Parts: sequence; C-alpha cells; structure tokens
Amino acid sequence: MTKLITLISDVVQDVEHPLIRTSLQSAFDQSLTKLDAIESSFTTLATSVASSNNLNVFFHNWSMTNNSAIGLSGFCNRLTMRWRSETNGVGNAQTSTKYMNALSHLNRVTDEDLGATGGKLHYDLYYQMATMICQNDDWMSRQHLMSEGKEFKQWKDRCMVKDKDLFMGFLVTLVHEVYTHGEVEYILPLFDQWLRDTRSFNDKERRRCLIWIDVHTKGTERNHFNETLQALPDLCSILGRKLEDYQLVNLFSEYLSKKANVMVALKEQIDQNNQPIYLEAQA
Ligand SMILES: [Fe+2]
Ligand SMILES: [Fe+2]
Repeated sequence: MTKLITLISDVVQDVEHPLIRTSLQSAFDQSLTKLDAIESSFTTLATSVASSNNLNVFFHNWSMTNNSAIGLSGFCNRLTMRWRSETNGVGNAQTSTKYMNALSHLNRVTDEDLGATGGKLHYDLYYQMATMICQNDDWMSRQHLMSEGKEFKQWKDRCMVKDKDLFMGFLVTLVHEVYTHGEVEYILPLFDQWLRDTRSFNDKERRRCLIWIDVHTKGTERNHFNETLQALPDLCSILGRKLEDYQLVNLFSEYLSKKANVMVALKEQIDQNNQPIYLEAQA
C-alpha cells in the first residue's frame, strides 16, 4: 500500500456524494502502480546525488504538473463569459445566483495561489524552492521541458480552458486537488530530510525553501477539494450536465496516468546519471 493512496483515501472516504466517492476511490485503487511509481520518483530524487541538470529537469517538469491556478482562473473566466452570453449580462436572479455560488467556491481554490489572502504568490514560492535547491534559476528554461511534462500540461490546459464541455474543467480540478493533497503531505517530510542530508541550509533557510510545499499541507488541498465539490450542484444546473453521463473513473485515471508518466520520466533521467547518496554507507 502506497502512502499516497492512504493520504488520498482519507479524504475521499469523507465525500458524501456516492458517485464521486466511489469513482475517485476506484480510479485511485486502479492506479496503485502509478502512485507507487510517483512515490518512487520523489524518493529517488531525495536519495540520489542529482546533477544540476537532473535537478533543473526535475523542477521544470514537476512544475508542469502543478501551479494550476492559471488554468482554474481561466476556467472561471469562461464561466462568466458563458453567463454573459446566456443572459446578456443581466440574467434572471436564479441563474445569476447559481453562477455566483459556483464561482465563489471555485475562486476559493486559488485564493492562496494568487496571493488573494495577503500571502506571497505561490508561483514565487515555487521559484524560491526550486532556485534554492538548484542553486540558480536555470531550471526555468524551456530547454528542460520533456515531452511527458508538455503532454500533461497541454492535456490539463485543454480540459480547463479549451474543451467545449466546461464540465471537464470541473472534473479535472476535482481529481487534481485531492491528488495534490496526497502529494504535498507525502513529500514534505521527505524533502525536509533530503535537505538536511544534502544541503548546508540552516533551519530558517530550510523552512524558507520548503514554504511552497508547507503552505499546501495541513488541510489546504483538502479544503480546495471540498470547495470544488461544493460547486457541483450549481455547475450541473448551469451547464446542464449529469455526472452519470461521464466516464468518471476513466477520466480520473487518465489524470493519474499522465502525472505518473511525467514522474517516471523524471526518475529515469535521475537513475541514468546518479548513484544513491547512501550507497557507501549501506555497503
Ligand atoms: Fe498553490
Ligand atoms: Fe489546491
């Protein structure tokens, strides 16, 4: 049993909506080997002597799978565009209230990301973490983009801001938020130990480096997932969609598969070039 599935199932089990709960659980249960591979990519990173190129590639492509606030903001823009075109910007009170309810839940998912609660932009916190670990910001260069990272981002962006069916953006956000809960909770202690073992950061510097992960833990992503869920009834009504019409398990599994593709590719490029940190100690 992977740690990711335990962390994620904890949240999924509390979902009241039966079809969402069972579909998410089935998708994660069916993706155990993928989750195992994702965990392995993070543990490989944290137990290997990664070259600067490995680190640059890792942080560039990992960022393709997170930093999702722009996509969700674009999705919300599409909702208000739809509201305008449907109602000429006036609308009846009942329809407008449904749009406002859905948006008020979805906007809460990106509050911290966009600095709306007064904190730093999460884009800047990721930059801080990656740049401290990589020792400069070369990791930002597009030359490090792997086909798997590009494929994940293009697929997710398509679901969020291009797919004619706006409901796809909602479904992908749902699986993304609950998966991310597992990922950040899993990697925080792992990265903390990694930095203690391999970097000369003092406690304050190490905490500063890990703020991006830390701010997403302790229930942040769980809350984002629950806020997303609360938009469901109004979105179904606004968009005229029914959950039953979607292959939910397939869609959630596709997300996990594409995520695993990125992380496996990252593990492989580290494996090709590195020796485990503890090789001598274990011998
Ligand atoms: Fe964030
Ligand atoms: Fe989130």
